[in-house]
Amino acid sequence: MDQQEKLVLLLTTPQSYRATAFLAAAKKLGIAIVQGVDLPEALAEQWGVQLRLDFSQPDTAVSHIVAFAQERPLAAVIPVDDAGAVLAAKASQALGLPHNKVAAAEAARDKYKMRQMLAAAGVNSPRFAQFPLNESMTAVLAYVTAEIGFPCVVKPLHLNGSRGVMRANDAVELVAVIGRLRTMLPDAGTFLVESYLPGVEVALEAVLENGRLHPLAIFDKPDPLEGPFFEETIYVTPSRLPENVQQHVVETAAAGAAALGLQLGSVHAELRVNEAGAWIVEVNGRSIGGLCSQTLRFDMGMSLEELILRQATGLSVSHLQREQQASGVMMIPIPHGGILRGFTGEDAARAVPGVDEVTITAPLNNRLVPLPEGESYLGFIFATGATPDEVESALREAHRCLKFQIDEEIRLTVVGNQ
Ligand SMILES: Nc1ncnc2c1ncn2[C@@H]1O[C@H](COP(=O)(O)OP(=O)(O)OP(=O)(O)O)[C@@H](O)[C@H]1O
Ligand SMILES: [Mg+2]
Repeated sequence: MDQQEKLVLLLTTPQSYRATAFLAAAKKLGIAIVQGVDLPEALAEQWGVQLRLDFSQPDTAVSHIVAFAQERPLAAVIPVDDAGAVLAAKASQALGLPHNKVAAAEAARDKYKMRQMLAAAGVNSPRFAQFPLNESMTAVLAYVTAEIGFPCVVKPLHLNGSRGVMRANDAVELVAVIGRLRTMLPDAGTFLVESYLPGVEVALEAVLENGRLHPLAIFDKPDPLEGPFFEETIYVTPSRLPENVQQHVVETAAAGAAALGLQLGSVHAELRVNEAGAWIVEVNGRSIGGLCSQTLRFDMGMSLEELILRQATGLSVSHLQREQQASGVMMIPIPHGGILRGFTGEDAARAVPGVDEVTITAPLNNRLVPLPEGESYLGFIFATGATPDEVESALREAHRCLKFQIDEEIRLTVVGNQ
């Protein structure tokens, strides 16, 4: 089969920012794409979706994919983000395509399983314990005080984007953050408490080929992420950490991916680095989220999506190098909750030397909910430059140009019958 005839199934959700980038890459490679979208039935018809899949019912979704593939054979199944990773592994298994073990994909999606597998393999990772959400506070406090210690971090098992992730410095704060998590996710069942990892944080983007990890980029996260919540802002690559520390980051992430049993495809890992070494915050069997992949270009301007499609359709990518220049993104933080009425300064932000793009993704007249309950950013600023310092300064300057009008929400209470 030559590249021309290949059909790839892309697993997406309505929240995926990245389908467009994959479609552009596929067009360039002459690969046909079918999107399998996790959508309610009514919307799927309205949107003219080719293949509607319920990611929460993976067995049914797999049988739909297999039936589809009988008519139109698939060369690969690619998850665009976390939500589709387990389904991609299951579907690939059913179709006899190269895939990550289902257990590995599941472990990368479940923060408790991930911690168990990292600990079993002796990979640097925080102390941790899982509790039922309705566990008595006295029992949680006793265990955390004795076995985990303060500060600690409370987090849900299955969310992304730092939602529900909260630091507690002492018993009083721990009771408060668990209460907040109960209100936020009354049906979550369980939650995780981890020891707080001090240090600077980096993100590693990599691909696995036959179980070997090839680093594509290490991003510094120069804004301190010390809690109480952990809103990501700036990512800049290449990292400014010393070469030997970067090497240690790659080795630790590779050990983490191996501990989970991940064998091929994208890896996105977050690590903290301190004097005791590199520590795994998490390892995911997917690529970098949101629009952030736009910061990465390989060889002759190849996108990360193209690299992923190439690998998924059987081409080796381990020789590919990220382009030389420094690059970065700012995920524009939500300063406070309310209704986004408007913004100014986009042109001035775009005019900052080094800034390549400013995209405000939050819809106007909609509610903005900051962390830990909220889940998205106001938008993204992209910059490139000769050095990471230059890129970081450009991102900060562009951010200063942007002014957002966020009105306090007026809550109307209707009293009595009209
Ligand atoms: N044990 C820990 N010690 C210190 N900081 C932590 C710890 N766990 C999480 N964090 C902070 O909280 C952030 C979010 O946590 P985590 O990555 O586990 O959740 P997430 O919601 O899955 O994020 P993502 O969308 O990146 O997958 C981390 O990037 C880190 O800054
Ligand atoms: Mg994370």
